[in-house]
Amino acid sequence: MSTAASPAKRRTRDTWTSQTGFLMAAIGSAIGLGNIWRFPGVAYTNGGGAFLVPYLVALLFAGIPILWLEYAVGHKFRGTPPWAFRRMNAKGEFLGWLCVFICFVIITYYAAVVAWSGSYVFYSITEAWGEDSQTFFLSSFLGTVGSDEFSWTPVAAVAIPLVLVWACILLIASFGVARGVEKANKIFLPLLVVLFLALVVRALFLPGALEGLSAFFTPNWSSLAQPKVWLAAFAQIFFSLSVGFGIMLTYASYLQKKSNVTGTALVAGFANSSFEILAGIGVFSALGFMAHSQGIAVSELKGLTGPILSFVTFPKIISMMPGGPLFGVLFFSSLVLAGITSLLSLLQVVSGAIQDKFALTPVKASLVMGIPTTIISLALFATRSGLNTLDI
Ligand code: ALA
Repeated sequence: MSTAASPAKRRTRDTWTSQTGFLMAAIGSAIGLGNIWRFPGVAYTNGGGAFLVPYLVALLFAGIPILWLEYAVGHKFRGTPPWAFRRMNAKGEFLGWLCVFICFVIITYYAAVVAWSGSYVFYSITEAWGEDSQTFFLSSFLGTVGSDEFSWTPVAAVAIPLVLVWACILLIASFGVARGVEKANKIFLPLLVVLFLALVVRALFLPGALEGLSAFFTPNWSSLAQPKVWLAAFAQIFFSLSVGFGIMLTYASYLQKKSNVTGTALVAGFANSSFEILAGIGVFSALGFMAHSQGIAVSELKGLTGPILSFVTFPKIISMMPGGPLFGVLFFSSLVLAGITSLLSLLQVVSGAIQDKFALTPVKASLVMGIPTTIISLALFATRSGLNTLDI
C-alpha cells in the first residue's frame, strides 16, 4: 500500500508534552459517567461484593490486554483508527471508520447527559425539584412525551446547556492535543478527584451509610454461576475503561516515539477501577442514608442506576440531608467534570480521524465536524423525546 498520499504526513503530528500528560488524559477518558452512575448499580444488582470477581477477571484478562493492544497499535501506526488500521491492512480502514461512528453516536447522547448534569449543578442550589424529583426531571425539566412517542419540539432548558457543552469541548479540541486536551485534563481531573473525595467523605458520615456499604459489599456468591453477571462485568470494563472503540488507540497515536505504554496501561486501568470502587462507596453510603431516613432496607430502594439514580434518586437524597445543596453541587459538578474529560477523548477519535484523512488543522476539524454534530445532538436530545432516544 502506498503511503505517498498520506494526509497524515502533510502536517506534523501533535504529541502529548509528557508521559504524565498522556496518562492523565487516558485516566480522564476512562473515568466518566460509567464510573459514577453505572458501576455502583451494576455491581449491586449483579452479586454485590461477589461482582468484584468477574469484574477483576474482566479487567485483567480483557481490559488491560486490550488497552495494551490499543496503545501498541496507536503508538506504532501513529494514526486514528481508520488511518492506523489502513496502515496495518489496506482493507482495515472501514473498521476504523466503524470505531469513529460508534464514538460519534456515544458523543451525541453523552453530551446531553453532561448538559443535564450542568443544569442540575444550579438546580441543586435551590433544590429546584421540590417535593417530587421524578415529576420535576421527567416533566418540568425534560418535558418528556410518552415512552413510544417521538417529538421535534425543542426544550430550551436542555438545548442551552447542551450548546454550551458542545462549545466547550469543541473549543478545547480546537487547541489540539497538547494545548487543548492535555491542558484541560490536567485541570479537570485533579479537580474531579478533590470534589468527589469531598463528596464521598461527606456521604460516609451520613446516618445509615454503613447499611448502604454493607448492602453494596455483601457478596452473593451464587450470582457467579449466572452468565449475565459475567457479561455485565465485561460490558462494564469495556465501557468504563474506554476500550474497544479506538479511543485509547487514538490517544496513543499522539505519544512521543519513546514512550512506556505497558506501565501506563496498568496505572490507567487500576486508577479507573479505584475510582469506580470509590464511586460505589459514595453512592451506596448515600443510598444507605436514604433507606435509613425512610425506615426501609437498602434492598427495597428503587432507581439505583443510570439517569434515574442521578436525576431522581440523588435529588431526593439531597433534599433529605443537612447541607444538601452543597452535596448536590459536588455530585453534579463531578458528573460534569468526569463527563467532559471522557467526551474530549470520544471527540478526539472523530476530530482526529477527519484531521488524518483530510489533513485539516484541529480548528478546521472542530468547525467541519462540530457544527453538524452539535445540530444532530440537539435534534435528537434537546427535544421532548430526548429521554426516549437516550433509552434507545
Ligand atoms: N469511559 C467512559 C465512561 O466510563 C466512557 O463513562
